[in-house]
Amino acid sequence: MCGVVGYVGKGYCRNYILEGLGRLEYRGYDSSGFACIDPQTKRLAYHRAEGQLINLIHKLEGLPIDGHIGIGHTRWATHGGISEKNAHPQFDCTESIAVVHNGIIENHHHLKTELLAKNHIFLSDTDTEVVAHVCEQFFKESSSINEAILSITQKLSGAYAFVAMFQNQSDQLIAVRKGSPLCIGIGKEQMFVASDPLAFAGFTDTVLFLPDESYALVNESNIQLFDFKGKKIEPTLTTLDIQWSNDGKNGFKHYMLKEIYEQKSGIQATLSHLRSNEKDIWGQLGLTNEYVQNLKVLSIVAAGTSWHAGRIAQFFFEKLCLLPTHVMLASEFRYMPYFAQQNNLSIFISQSGETVDTLECLYLTKSMKAPSLALTNVATSALAREAGGALITHAGREIAVASTKAFSTQLTALFWFAHKMALEKRLISYRQMEHACDDLLIAAEVLENSIEKYFTKISKELAPFYAQFKRFIFLGRNISYPFAMEAALKLKEISYIFSQCYPAGELKHGPIALLDKETPVILFSNLDEQIYQKVLSNAQEVKARGAHLLTFVFEGQEELASLADHTFIIPRVNPLLGPLAMTGLMQFFVYEIADVLGCPIDKPRNLAKSVTVE
Ligand code: M6R
Repeated sequence: MCGVVGYVGKGYCRNYILEGLGRLEYRGYDSSGFACIDPQTKRLAYHRAEGQLINLIHKLEGLPIDGHIGIGHTRWATHGGISEKNAHPQFDCTESIAVVHNGIIENHHHLKTELLAKNHIFLSDTDTEVVAHVCEQFFKESSSINEAILSITQKLSGAYAFVAMFQNQSDQLIAVRKGSPLCIGIGKEQMFVASDPLAFAGFTDTVLFLPDESYALVNESNIQLFDFKGKKIEPTLTTLDIQWSNDGKNGFKHYMLKEIYEQKSGIQATLSHLRSNEKDIWGQLGLTNEYVQNLKVLSIVAAGTSWHAGRIAQFFFEKLCLLPTHVMLASEFRYMPYFAQQNNLSIFISQSGETVDTLECLYLTKSMKAPSLALTNVATSALAREAGGALITHAGREIAVASTKAFSTQLTALFWFAHKMALEKRLISYRQMEHACDDLLIAAEVLENSIEKYFTKISKELAPFYAQFKRFIFLGRNISYPFAMEAALKLKEISYIFSQCYPAGELKHGPIALLDKETPVILFSNLDEQIYQKVLSNAQEVKARGAHLLTFVFEGQEELASLADHTFIIPRVNPLLGPLAMTGLMQFFVYEIADVLGCPIDKPRNLAKSVTVE
């Protein structure tokens, strides 16, 4: 999703900004732009381009556009189509105020009408251009910068992070944050502003994450930070330990494939970090032993793949900790009645830790004074900072839009955490906890080895065959149902093939009407014997209707294997880790289908890596 980068300092800004935008490319975008103030003419100069960042770089090549202050942006279209005029920066009437923005100005339509009545001229279809004109209006009417910014923040509604640059103040950037993330990198005689510290990692490791509803006046050596009431805030600085290393695809055709293969080591690293921190884990998470022992209910909130991980983890917590567990989609939870419960813990899962839906649910939970925990892959993310405590997965940076290693490391952390909680509640022994860790490592082996076992069959035979179909049905039961949902999401997002998932038991309540020769059914088995028998009946129902069936089964489940047209046989693991064991093979299978179809797998159309708008 949109990337914001700004620079003010002794150095020249263009390279810093283009480098920063390049590092944020993986988040997804469809146009980009750069603006700076020319140190000689003191005038604002800019270029914008549709499509890849390289198009902007080519436009700037050979042009003497550079300066000591500048802003840049990668845009993921929300308001207004993908075009040069809608790319950021956006400007006021006289092109002397430039704004780059991430988020959505919800009352932009109303504001635009007001501004048009005051003779403002608009050239784009974006909500961001409204911000530039609101700035123009209030800077004209106000007696001080602070007064102007406070009026602007009162006027705008929605979630936003924007950086504004003014031709008549060529030494200062204004950074404003409400909802969407924004941070400032503090260097030597230079400052960086960005939506993600990755943009300036390596240039400085000292960072100020802007608190929500705050703004900063930033020059090369100083930051003045204020809240939305105009009260000065003492900045809290953080030292980053992230580095920018772009080791590229390392010989793999796509980042997604590389990341599928990084899962075994990601699981090992996640487990090893969790184990090394296990002493006083409750204290580190802002909880107490007593609180955990007396927990009565768990809530899990997440979006997309992270929500699927939460749905699978529901089985961990309910079975091991005997805790009723409610798993909610962040985008729904936010607008549902909030029922405060005693002895509750809310876990927010997000790979990026910046997903706005999930973050807003965290803020809502905090406002109810309820305890919260983040599970994220980005230790510096807003979710990790804002939650009462944070469990960190160690998947390494995930670049492909389709989440793979984040999912398997989330399952790892949640499985471990459920055992830790069960141990605290004296429901399992320390020995069982140790076994659980071994089981995770075994599942990680199975995850990778299964890909190897079927690599040739999938790439040479199965993927070309299944790539011919226009729609798929995915089925699973019990713990395999949310896993089947994840498989369907994976296939649809990277191949654009219509994929629908149902709990296998629901088939006869309606979806069975969809079965025909043109609609293959992908069925995921289960290691629980009772559930397996039910899955078997569902497979028979599918075959009796003449539909094509592909099954993922576990060793010893020959009857189910023999019913299928194609089957993958996976070694048996701890029954709760069946989904984790099937993860690599499932991801590789759908990846290969998308590859046969020639899809842009790492950056599927319309999608962004980090969804920072609602
Ligand atoms: O960063 P998050 O885990 O919060 O992201 C949530 C979803 O946007 C994400 O999982 C999305 O569904 C992926 N594209 C799935 O592959």
